[in-house]
This record gives sequence, structure tokens and C-alpha cells, in this order.
Amino acid sequence: MDPIQNLYAPGAGTRPPELAGRDELRETVRVVLARVQHGHSAKSVLMVGLRGVGKTVLLDRMREEAEEAGLQTLFVEASEERSLPATLAPQLRQALLKLSGNAMAQDMAQRGLRAIAGFVQTLKVKFQDIEVALDFDPEPGLADNGNLEQDLTEMLLAAGAAAKKAETVLSLFVDELQYINEDELAALITALHRAAQRQAPVVLVGAGLPQLRARMGNARSYAERMFDVHEVGPLAPEAARRAIEKPARDEGVAIDDNALQRIFEMTHGYPYFLQEWDKYAWDIADTSPISLGDVERAWATAYDAQFTKRKQPYQTQMSLATLSW
Ligand SMILES: Nc1ncnc2c1ncn2[C@@H]1O[C@H](COP(=O)(O)OP(=O)(O)O)[C@@H](O)[C@H]1O
Ligand SMILES: [Mg+2]
Repeated sequence: MDPIQNLYAPGAGTRPPELAGRDELRETVRVVLARVQHGHSAKSVLMVGLRGVGKTVLLDRMREEAEEAGLQTLFVEASEERSLPATLAPQLRQALLKLSGNAMAQDMAQRGLRAIAGFVQTLKVKFQDIEVALDFDPEPGLADNGNLEQDLTEMLLAAGAAAKKAETVLSLFVDELQYINEDELAALITALHRAAQRQAPVVLVGAGLPQLRARMGNARSYAERMFDVHEVGPLAPEAARRAIEKPARDEGVAIDDNALQRIFEMTHGYPYFLQEWDKYAWDIADTSPISLGDVERAWATAYDAQFTKRKQPYQTQMSLATLSW
């Protein structure tokens, strides 16, 4: 099949042509955000799962849907090399600048920007990697104690107050949460907890590896009760079928049932492997429908290209925990 038309998208955070099997989780997050927008309580959401199950693309889609619903969002990816303040401050500033364009929220948004200024100027000594433009002078006493937990709390409360004036929700989409070190994670949890207590419309939708659950609990013992944790895993057979079949069908290409079945058996419905497999099968097939034979040949190619070089049995690779991105 024409490789130029090949829509499958193996990778990290690369959008799949069909985001299959995640409707329920998307709906859960939609309801959480809408509840908070209406002044009701709702727990923040965490999604945990192995590499390659599709957390990043799901988070990205949820963020897009929140924006479409008129909510104020920010998206950050935590990393081992960067501190939480350095990760968060620039995006928070962007969100506040947007909110300041709303007449009802302008004053509060500017106060939020002053909070960022206080936060950054005070904590820059400790977190030297913070780099963010300051739009206003700090307000003495606002988010400038020099204590991360207190200052982060004040900054989120100020940002939440601005979001409330704009009748929106500040939705923080944070990927790779497991990289945040324990002290900073504790500060974030406390800040979100205070925001919830004060009914500030601030919600975290986070994603991370399975160890995130324990890390959150270690950082703050009440974290367990603050978040709804959802496991993101392989796709169920129907969803996997859709992820494989729909993109091809949209291009006028069919896939034989036994070929579909084989792909599912070999990938166990793991999204990354589905994409990889489908991509090879598409490239190898000469004509529609893609047959079992094409899939078998794709297997050999994929195996050669991806797996033998790592000198590990494929089944070990299938654990995904060993993937190195
Ligand atoms: N629901 C899905 N349906 C089909 N393919 C998916 C789905 N979710 C993710 N993928 C694909 O799986 C791969 C890994 O997705 P990614 O979001 O990077 O996973 P994670 O963040 O969990 O490591 C990407 O190639 C992506 O296109
Ligand atoms: Mg990811």
C-alpha cells in the first residue's frame, strides 16, 4: 500500500489516526470539569499506566476538548531535569494573560500575574531554572514567603480566583507526573487541596507511570482521597479492532478478519504496538484487503527492525515497562 497514505502513527505522544476505546475516561474528565465550572466539587483525575498505552495522546485530547468547552487549560510535561516551579510558571502566566483579556476577570488575573512575580522573584534563589517574563510588579506578601508549598498555594488560589471571575475552570494537564520530586509533589497536592477547600475552580488532570500512585501517597497521605485514579491499559478487543480498521477503511482499504485477529493476538491490544504493527502491515501489503500473510510478513519485518537489535525476547518487550522513551 502507498506508504505516503499510511496513517498509522507509532511513537511517543504521536496522535493516532483513531483514538479508540477511551470514550468513558474522556467523559469522566468532561463531567469533572463541568461540575467544577458549575461550582460543584469534584476530585482531580490521575491516569496511570505503562509506557505506550496512550496516556499522553489521551491527555492531549482531553485538553483539546476542555478548550473547546471554553475552559482555560494549560499543558505541561514534568521532567527529571526541571523543577515544578520552572515547569509550571510560564504556562500559568500564559493562562493568566489569556484570562486578563476577559473584562470580568481582568483585575483578578492581574493579581495572579503579581502572584507569579512574587513567587518567581522569591523562589528563583532556590529554583534557579525558573525562566518566565514578569508582566507586573509583585504585591508584597502575595506568594512571596519563600516556602514552595505556601507560595504555590497562593499562586494557584490567585489564578483560581481569576478563573472563577471568568466563569471558567483552570485545568492543569500535567504529563509524566512521576518525575516530580517528592517535596514538589507534596507542595502541588497541598496547593490543589487548599484550592478545592476554597472552591477555587482549579483541577489537575495528570498522567504518569504506575508508581505515581505510591509516590502521591508518600508525598501526602491524604492524596489518595483527593484524586480519582484511573488505570489506562491495553485496548479491549472491540476498541483495538476499531483502532486498526477505521483508519484503513477511511482510506478505502479493508483488512481481513483473520489479519485483524492476528494483530490483536500479537499486540494484546497495546496501543503503541498496534500502531507499529499496522504501519508495517500497511506498507507491506500490495493490495486491499490486507491479509493474514501481509501481517505475518509485517511481523518478521517489525521483529527485525525493532526487537532483535535489543537482543531481548519479544514477550519481554511486550511488557512495555522496558520501553526506553
Ligand atoms: N486509544 C488509542 N488508539 C489507538 N492508538 C493509540 C491510542 N492511544 C495511543 N495510541 C498510540 O500509542 C502510542 C503511544 O501513545 P502515548 O500517548 O505516547 O503513550 P504513553 O504516553 O502512555 O506512553 C502512540 O503511537 C499513539 O498513537
Ligand atoms: Mg507519555
